[in-house]
Amino acid sequence: MTDHIEELREMRARAKVGGGPKRIEAQHAKGKLTARERLASLLDEGSFQELGALATHDCTAFGMDEKRFPGDGVVAGFGKINGRKVAVYAQDFTVLGGSFSEVQSLKICRVMDLALESGIPVVGLLDSGGARIQEGVKSLAGYGELFTRNVLASGVIPQISLMLGPCAGGSVYSPALTDFVVMVRDISHMFITGPSVIKTVTGEEVTFGELGGALAHSAKSGVAHFVADSEQQAFLLVKQLLSYLPPNNVEDPRNVEPYDDPQRMDDGLNDIVPLDETVPYDMQEVIARVFDSDSFLEVQAYYARSAIVGFARLDGYVVGVVANQPLHLAGVLDIDSSDKIARFVRICDAFNIPVVTFVDCPGYLPGVDQEHGGIIRHGAKIIYAYCEATVPKICVVTRKAIGGAYIAMSSKQMRSDLAFAWPTAEIAVMGPDGAVNILYRRELKAADDPETLRAQYVAEYKARFHNPYSAADMGQIDEVIEPRETRPRLIAALDILRGKVATNPAKKHGLMPV
Ligand code: HXC
Repeated sequence: MTDHIEELREMRARAKVGGGPKRIEAQHAKGKLTARERLASLLDEGSFQELGALATHDCTAFGMDEKRFPGDGVVAGFGKINGRKVAVYAQDFTVLGGSFSEVQSLKICRVMDLALESGIPVVGLLDSGGARIQEGVKSLAGYGELFTRNVLASGVIPQISLMLGPCAGGSVYSPALTDFVVMVRDISHMFITGPSVIKTVTGEEVTFGELGGALAHSAKSGVAHFVADSEQQAFLLVKQLLSYLPPNNVEDPRNVEPYDDPQRMDDGLNDIVPLDETVPYDMQEVIARVFDSDSFLEVQAYYARSAIVGFARLDGYVVGVVANQPLHLAGVLDIDSSDKIARFVRICDAFNIPVVTFVDCPGYLPGVDQEHGGIIRHGAKIIYAYCEATVPKICVVTRKAIGGAYIAMSSKQMRSDLAFAWPTAEIAVMGPDGAVNILYRRELKAADDPETLRAQYVAEYKARFHNPYSAADMGQIDEVIEPRETRPRLIAALDILRGKVATNPAKKHGLMPV
């Protein structure tokens, strides 16, 4: 072997150990894998092609003259996941806490540029204490470069962030700009400023977990889209998620060989909606029965639970599913569920995924908190997202489609392609009690027996509006179907709509009410 080859092998071997055996031991002691172990678990065996393994940080930075870490706290390159090409990077906490340096930025931006040019997804594995303090403004500038890549790649290639450590400062803004954030219980933390800074500034006392753990971000803030119990489970989730996404915005998602009977009718669906409109039912069950068996991957399962969003398959083809969940707050649209639905519809639209919407919603949530929190602005996002989306869109009204909910939830007037309704559908401007109080206020006030009169008016109102037929009469509902027919009807409809071509007026970009 020549000296040159020996020298190269030595340098590569040094780069592979990151911050050294002690820090690797400390990483393992925290129940965490190293960056290289993570990539080995995530990627198809032997597929990883590393770039920048020998790039070393700025040794002239403050206090860094004695330190040399080839590879500088991030392992970056390309690989395959279930045979599909991806760009990847994994921050190495054993090197200066995975802190983000100028060289880290150069390495990550390099693979992102190549991924954007080649049209392949980017998966980031983050485990970093934020901007490298020793490098000062250089590391901050590095974040600027990364954020620019995140934004330019947004809607062009899927971007997934796996949070695998205590991610602080700038380490959370890049993930926030990506499409999906996956957190791992007990291992992942995300925050702008940690508990000690918060205590100093506001006096609040909070633990790392309460502040920025997986539960906080999946159930409260909505920052995280998926939660895993372990790193290995997180890798499986990413593999599953990628199977629903195309490599880029000009390709379609990959369909799989159909494995569930497209003509399957589920008689149980005919009885799923209770006769008493005040009794809830589980929309998850509707979803499980309609789509290809076990194909539903829920997104943001713990956040804004009056709405359900996620990916599924119909006859092997990928669809996005949006639904109201009558089990939570009667399926109402509030600030958070509006954000959740709008974001998901836009992701589907960006990546050529048709959207199927199940509607059972009493409307937007009334209340001072909601009004002052901006339900007008947030609720408008749903309308914006559906109107803007050019992918095939189908809605199925299962029960309530009242007022704003009828129009906002994928109505035909907002460019939806087809509207089905079950016979249990109730389509009206408002619920019967509210409507009667407004329409017959004077009569009720003058009546000797207002309650009997009210009951009579309510019964008349229900007879008129608590069915889908007047909407079907006017062509606003294309077809009233038996619930059990939903699966074959959706499959046939999507088959027709697969070739749909729709465009929006040319513009720089719309002004979504963010
Ligand atoms: C340089 C850092 C670092 C950083 C951690 N380290 N964060 N080095 N810059 N930002 C180093 C530590 O000095 C230590 O080095 C090693 O990483 C491991 O850190 P520990 O503190 O020992 O680990 P742990 O106890 O697990 O705590 C992890 C942590 C904590 C919670 C992330 O290190 C921490 O709070 N770091 C600072 C977080 C922060 O405030 N970041 C914001 C930066 S500002 P040795 O040599 O001892 O192993 C920012 C702004 C960007 O990011 C704005 C963009 C919009």
